[in-house]
Amino acid sequence: MVEIRTAMVEKIAAMQDFALYRDLAWEGSFEDYLQVIRQNPQVTRNAFQRAYDMIIRYGIEEYTDNKKKLIRYNFFKDEQNGGADAVYGLDIPLMRLVHVFKAASEGYGPEKRVILLHGPVGSSKSTIARLLKKGIEHYSSTTDGALYTFDWINLDDVGMAGAESARFKCPMNEEPLRLIPLSWREKAIKELGLSSPQFTVKVDGELDPACRFIFNKLMDKYGGDWSKVMQHVRVRRLLLSEKDRVGIGTFQPKDEKNQDSTELTGDINYRKIAEYGSDSDPRAFNFDGEFNVANRGIVEFIEVLKLDVAFLYDLLGASQEHKIKPKKFAQTDIDEVILGHTNEAEYKKLLSNEFMEALRDRTVKIDIPYITRVSEEQRIYAKDYNAGKIRGKHIAPHTLETAAMWAVLTRLEDPKKHQLTLVQKMKLYDGKTLPGFTQDNIKELRKEAVREGMDGISPRYIQDKISNALVSDRGEGCVNPFMVMNELESGLRHHSLITSDEQRRHYSMLLGLVKQEYEDIVKNEVQRAISADEEAIAKLCANYIDNIKAYTQKERVKNKYTGQDEEPDERLMRSIEEKIDIPDSRKDDFRREIMNYIGALAIEGRQFDFRTNERLQKALELKLFEDQKDSIKLTSLVSAVVDRDTQEKIDVVKNRMIRNYGYCEVCSTDVLNFVASIFARGDVKD
Ligand SMILES: Nc1ncnc2c1ncn2[C@@H]1O[C@H](COP(=O)(O)OP(=O)(O)OP(=O)(O)O)[C@@H](O)[C@H]1O
Ligand SMILES: [Mg+2]
Repeated sequence: MVEIRTAMVEKIAAMQDFALYRDLAWEGSFEDYLQVIRQNPQVTRNAFQRAYDMIIRYGIEEYTDNKKKLIRYNFFKDEQNGGADAVYGLDIPLMRLVHVFKAASEGYGPEKRVILLHGPVGSSKSTIARLLKKGIEHYSSTTDGALYTFDWINLDDVGMAGAESARFKCPMNEEPLRLIPLSWREKAIKELGLSSPQFTVKVDGELDPACRFIFNKLMDKYGGDWSKVMQHVRVRRLLLSEKDRVGIGTFQPKDEKNQDSTELTGDINYRKIAEYGSDSDPRAFNFDGEFNVANRGIVEFIEVLKLDVAFLYDLLGASQEHKIKPKKFAQTDIDEVILGHTNEAEYKKLLSNEFMEALRDRTVKIDIPYITRVSEEQRIYAKDYNAGKIRGKHIAPHTLETAAMWAVLTRLEDPKKHQLTLVQKMKLYDGKTLPGFTQDNIKELRKEAVREGMDGISPRYIQDKISNALVSDRGEGCVNPFMVMNELESGLRHHSLITSDEQRRHYSMLLGLVKQEYEDIVKNEVQRAISADEEAIAKLCANYIDNIKAYTQKERVKNKYTGQDEEPDERLMRSIEEKIDIPDSRKDDFRREIMNYIGALAIEGRQFDFRTNERLQKALELKLFEDQKDSIKLTSLVSAVVDRDTQEKIDVVKNRMIRNYGYCEVCSTDVLNFVASIFARGDVKD
C-alpha cells in the first residue's frame, strides 16, 4: 500500500515543471536585475503595454466581411482555457477595444482614461473583463510576460517591527527601477544602455510611501550612498494573481454606508499604530485598497457608474494622473489599467448627471452590443449545451438554432427600405444570400440601424430557459425546439426587463416567425431524408434519361415490363422538370442540354452521374419525395395504426435522420410526426 502511494506521488511529481518553477522563483540583487533588463528590456513595460502585448501574442486572423477588412484577435477565443470564456460575434467592438489598448500602450492618451465597456445586460462585458484579468495573470507567469518587483531586507536599523525587519515586501509590487530617484533615472537608464532598438525603457512614478520611508531612512544611515541602500534590495519575479490580490483588483459598488474610500486606496492598520506611534507612519498602513492591489495589472470596476460620488475623485485621479491619495499620505503613483463596465440604463443616468460629467469626459466608451448573427449566437449556447456537457439528455437538432434566431430577431430593427422582412434581414446578416441583395445592401442595412444590438433579449435569458427545458421531465430524455420555445414564451410574462405589453406581444410574434422557420427547416430535412435513397434516384434518373433520349431523337421507348415500344412518357418527364420550374416552353432546351452533356461525356468514355448536375439532382429528389411520400404514407403517421410495410419504410427514413442529421430515436419520431401533421394539414408548397 505504501509503495503504491509513493508511486502515485512520483507520478504527480513528474508532472511538475522544475525549470519553470526555478524561473518563477527567480530572485537576485538590483545589479542582477539590471542584467535581466539588458537582456530583455520588455520586463519594464507598463501595465498597458503588457496588456496589449498579451492580447497580440495569441495572434490574429484577418478576414473580410461585407467588403470590410476585419481582424479577429485569437485571444478572445479563450482557447487557453478550452474556450470557456470565448466571446463570439463581436469582432468589431473587440477591435475597437484592442485599438484603445494599442494607443494606450504607445502613450497616445487612452492610458489616462477609464476604459468603459458599455452595453445591454448580458452582452459579455464581464466576460471580456474576466478574460483580460485571466490573460494578464497567466502572461505574468510566462517568459515573455515576466515582470519584477522587490523586497527590502535587513531593516533592523530602520525600525521595522517583527518579521518585517528581516524582510519587507514592497506593498504595491513596484517596478524595481523606481528605486532610482526620478531626478537621475532617465540618465541612468540611458547610460547603462538598458533600452534596446525595439524597446525604450521608461519607468515613471515614484516609490509608494512605505518604500520611500525605508529608502530615506537607509539613505540617512549610509550618508546618501545609494549603492549601499541597494544592498537592502532583493528583486524577485512578480506573479499576478487575482486570488492572492496581486496585480488584479475588483471593485463593486455596494451600499454606500458600508463602503468608504479605504476600499480603493488602503487603510490605516490600527494595531500597528501602537507599534509605530503615529497614524501617518507609512509602516502602519495597509496598502490593500483595490487600486493598491491592482498596481502593475488591472483594476475592474463593476457597474462603475453606480459609484458613489465620494469615490469619484479617487477614480478620476487614478485615471488622469495615475495617482491615488491614501489617507494621510501624499499622492502615490500607480501603473494599472482601469476597466469599468456598465449597462445601458446606468449610462443614460450618467448622461443627465452633472456630477458625473467629469467622469464621462475621462472615459473611453466601447459599446459591447448583443450578437446579431444567428450562427454566432448559437455558439454561445453550443458552448454550454453540447453532448459532452449534457449527459443523459439529447438536444434535438435546431433547438439551439431556433433559440438563437429568436434572440437575434428581438435585437434587430425593422428594415426601413428594400421591402425586406425581419426574418430575411436576419438571414442576410448571417451570411445567407437572397436574390437581388448585394453586400452593399447589407452594409446599408447595418448602417441605417443605429442602435441595433443594444436592445432585445439577452443570452442569459435564453440560457436560463434552455436549462429549464433540460431539467423538465417532459420529452423522454430529449429536448426539442418546441420545449425551449415554450419556455421562452412563458418566461416573457415574468421577464423583469420587459416593460410594456406591446413589447411582450412583439416578442411573442417573433417566436411565431421562428416556428414558421423551423417548420420549413424540418420539412426540408424530412424531404431530404426520404429522398436520400441513392438507388431509387439512380433508377428514376435512368428512366428519365431514357425518355428524354427518345424524345430528343424522336424515337420510341421500350417498356421494360411489356417489351412493347411506346411513346416517351411526357407526364413523367414534366413531373420531374416542373420541380425545378422548367416551363413548358423551355423543356426542349433543357432536355437537349442534358443529352449534349451526356454525349460529350460518352466521347470521353465516361458515364453520366446525376450528382454532377445539381439542378437535375434536386428535381429528381423532389420527384422521388413526392412519389414516396404517398407510398410511405407519412400522413398515416398521424393516425395510430401503421401497417408493417409502411412502418419499415418509415424506419429507413428515421435511421437516415439519426445517422445523417443528428436526431435520436425520440426526436426523429417527433419530427416525422410533426412534418406528417403539416402535410396532413395540406399546406405543402414545393
Ligand atoms: N458575444 C458573446 N460571446 C460569448 N458569450 C456571450 C456573448 N454575449 C453574452 N455571452 C454569454 O452571456 C452570459 C452573460 O455574459 P456576461 O455576464 O459577461 O454579461 P454582462 O455584459 O457582464 O452582463 P451584465 O450587464 O448583466 O453584467 C455569459 O454566459 C456569456 O458567456
Ligand atoms: Mg456583468
